[in-house]
Formats: sequence, C-alpha cells, structure tokens
Amino acid sequence: MRGKFITLEGIDGAGKSTHHAWLVDYLRQRGKAVLATREPGGTPLGEKLRALLLAEPMHLETEALLMFAARREHLDKLILPALAEGKWVVSDRFSDASHAYQGGGRGLAPEKLTVLENWVQAGFQPDLTLVFDLPVETARQRLAKTGAAPDRFEQETRDFFERVRQTYLARAKAEPDRIKIIDATESLESIKEKLEEVVLINCFK
Ligand SMILES: Nc1ncnc2c1ncn2[C@@H]1O[C@H](COP(=O)(O)OP(=O)(O)O)[C@@H](O)[C@H]1O
Ligand SMILES: [Mg+2]
Repeated sequence: MRGKFITLEGIDGAGKSTHHAWLVDYLRQRGKAVLATREPGGTPLGEKLRALLLAEPMHLETEALLMFAARREHLDKLILPALAEGKWVVSDRFSDASHAYQGGGRGLAPEKLTVLENWVQAGFQPDLTLVFDLPVETARQRLAKTGAAPDRFEQETRDFFERVRQTYLARAKAEPDRIKIIDATESLESIKEKLEEVVLINCFK
C-alpha cells in the first residue's frame, strides 16, 4: 500500500521544524515507516542547492527554477520511491512554499509557477498539507529569540512575509480538502493535540 505524503508549511518562525520532528516521531510510534525530509534539500544535490538558495543573491526566476530543480531531484530520489515502498513521507515545506515565497513574496507570476509545477509534479500533490499560521510579528519575535543568524529569506521585510502568509491562507481556502490551517499562536501542547486530530482524521481513515 502506498504511504501518505504530508507537508508542513508557513512563514519562517511559524513552528514547522519543531512540529515536523514531533509528527515524524508520532507516526513512528504508531508503527509507520517514515521518511523525514525537507525542502529545499533532501537529496545531496538538493542540499547543495539549498545552501545556494539560502545565501546567494539571485534573480527571482533563478530562485524559482532552482527550487523546482531541487524538487525534481527530491521526488525522483526520495519522495516517490519511499511512497511506493509504503513509507510515509513528512516534508518540512514543498510546492506551496514556492507559490507563497516566490509567487506571493517575490511577485513571480502564478502562471510561471504553474508551468514549473506541472512539469516537475505532473499533478502529484501531498495528501495533507499543514499550514502553520500566525502574525508576522509573532514569528519574528520567536526567530529573534533563537539567536541564530537569519538566512536570505529570514532577512526579508514584514511586508514580504505578510504577502507570503496571505498566499498560504488563500491557497488553503482554495483547496480546503488538502490544506489545513493550524493556529500557530497556541502553545506547543495544544498544537500537538490539534495536529494529532487533523492527521488522524485525514490520513488514518
Ligand atoms: N507554539 C509555539 N510557542 C512558542 N514557541 C514556539 C512555538 N512553535 C515554535 N516555537 C519556537 O519558535 C522558534 C521557531 O520555530 P521553528 O520550528 O524553527 O519554526 P520554522 O521551522 O517554521 O521556521 C523555535 O525556537 C521554536 O522553539
Ligand atoms: Mg524550519
């Protein structure tokens, strides 16, 4: 039986990585074989592209093309083989992030992203996408507290992240069956309860 493909999305500082680790653990405890992965990245080539994408200034179309190039590799080498083996795949970001960041944030025309998505994914989509939603200011405060040096995206303006957030919310509204909004302002404990509920309803039926 084919495994499930779950993706975590949201602006920087929303809690994706924190809850990615928790969800992978939770699914393993329930007896699932899980591939834990992330974008951009996942594969050796993808991680090299990630390092460039997070640090190197580039044209917005170059950025979108490299994101989808890394994704092509990720699908071919990791995601599709794992799902075919019956593993569940949990990815910290996937294509919704390209629409939100390169589309909403940077202003790349949605039609161009659709061309790339159709090319690379040919209709393939996650079974479930969790969008961690919170005000931009709250996310910034959380990131500031970590003390880590901000990457090329984390250095972006409030307006940029506001557009990214709104694009995620619009996509969730357009695809309510696949994309579920998680209120990321809540405590870690209540978010975990919510995640468990959403995953049980949508992936264990
Ligand atoms: N619900 C929450 N309440 C308080 N702090 C949180 C919450 N979720 C995440 N954090 C903290 O915010 C910071 C950013 O979380 P992280 O999971 O790295 O976000 P992302 O991967 O979306 O950028 C971390 O220090 C994390 O511990
Ligand atoms: Mg993260």
